[in-house]
Amino acid sequence: MSEVVSATGLRKGYPGRQAVDGIDFTIQSGECFGILGPNGAGKSTTLRMVIGLTALDGGRLEVFGQPMYPEQTTTSQRMGVVPQEDNLDPDLTVGENLLVYGRYFGLSDQAVQEKLVKLLAFAQLEDRRDAMVRELSGGMMRRLVIARSLVGSPELIVLDEPTTGLDPQARHLIWQRLRMLREEGVTLLLTTHYMEEAAQLCDRLMILNRGQILDQGTPAELISRHVEPEVVEIRGNGPLPEAGAYAHLPGRIEKIGDTLFSYSTDAHTVLDHFRNRHDLTCLMRPANLEDVFLKLTGRELND
Ligand SMILES: Nc1ncnc2c1ncn2[C@@H]1O[C@H](COP(=O)(O)OP(=O)(O)OP(=O)(O)O)[C@@H](O)[C@H]1O
Ligand SMILES: [Mg+2]
Repeated sequence: MSEVVSATGLRKGYPGRQAVDGIDFTIQSGECFGILGPNGAGKSTTLRMVIGLTALDGGRLEVFGQPMYPEQTTTSQRMGVVPQEDNLDPDLTVGENLLVYGRYFGLSDQAVQEKLVKLLAFAQLEDRRDAMVRELSGGMMRRLVIARSLVGSPELIVLDEPTTGLDPQARHLIWQRLRMLREEGVTLLLTTHYMEEAAQLCDRLMILNRGQILDQGTPAELISRHVEPEVVEIRGNGPLPEAGAYAHLPGRIEKIGDTLFSYSTDAHTVLDHFRNRHDLTCLMRPANLEDVFLKLTGRELND
């Protein structure tokens, strides 16, 4: 496997703020690599440096084996980009948006026309080819932006929050499409605020906070490294005692808002303890990435 992206000590500062503060990561060909992190963590800044839209100001970054230079602001033709904000042309039709984008890649209109059927099918927009972009729903626009990123047949696709704001159906469709691309061998780099999305799609992840990496690994590695495997959530009709009242129970117990979270290797003992408390609702579940995320990045708002 070859490295598609390799970053060492990568930095980017803005006045009064180190947006990316010396991070090391690599992305192997064919994998889906995810960046998680609270608002303002530096996810989009990292992606913008990878795509050559923001100049790095420290460290080393190689994309397809080529160093990205501090003054470089060109995007490799081998890369497709899905920005955080949809930047379609609202005054053009769906088809025209794809044609115009193809011209940036030096493709003839005829070459794009030949791809159009496939791209529209990918986005499930076959019957919207002549619709104006401003008439599309948010989910349709997002699918179109993803289809547009495929115009140049990229080897790497960089997606900044591909499904934010979409309904579950639209999100599942996009997940399925991204998995299709991955099966075709396309390398994916994405950011997301949805832990389920990260768990479903990503082979490996890194969790960023205030420009620094808190940890990286496969979803399963991160879960086993940071949280006990069994979680019990306890909610009540009235106020719950503080976590300290349950110090004798196995594992770790934490109160967040109106819920007690018990993390342990012995959820049954925890459940037994609450068996006669008919005023409480207990839910047992396996630990997930959200538990890891909250443990590593804290419970407070970051920005
Ligand atoms: N062009 C800019 N000028 C000044 N500060 C910036 C600029 N772009 C980003 N920042 C700052 O850098 C930090 C990281 O921003 P970035 O957009 O990378 O975060 P993010 O992880 O993508 O957040 P979100 O989840 O909200 O999209 C933030 O504090 C942001 O305000
Ligand atoms: Mg962002």
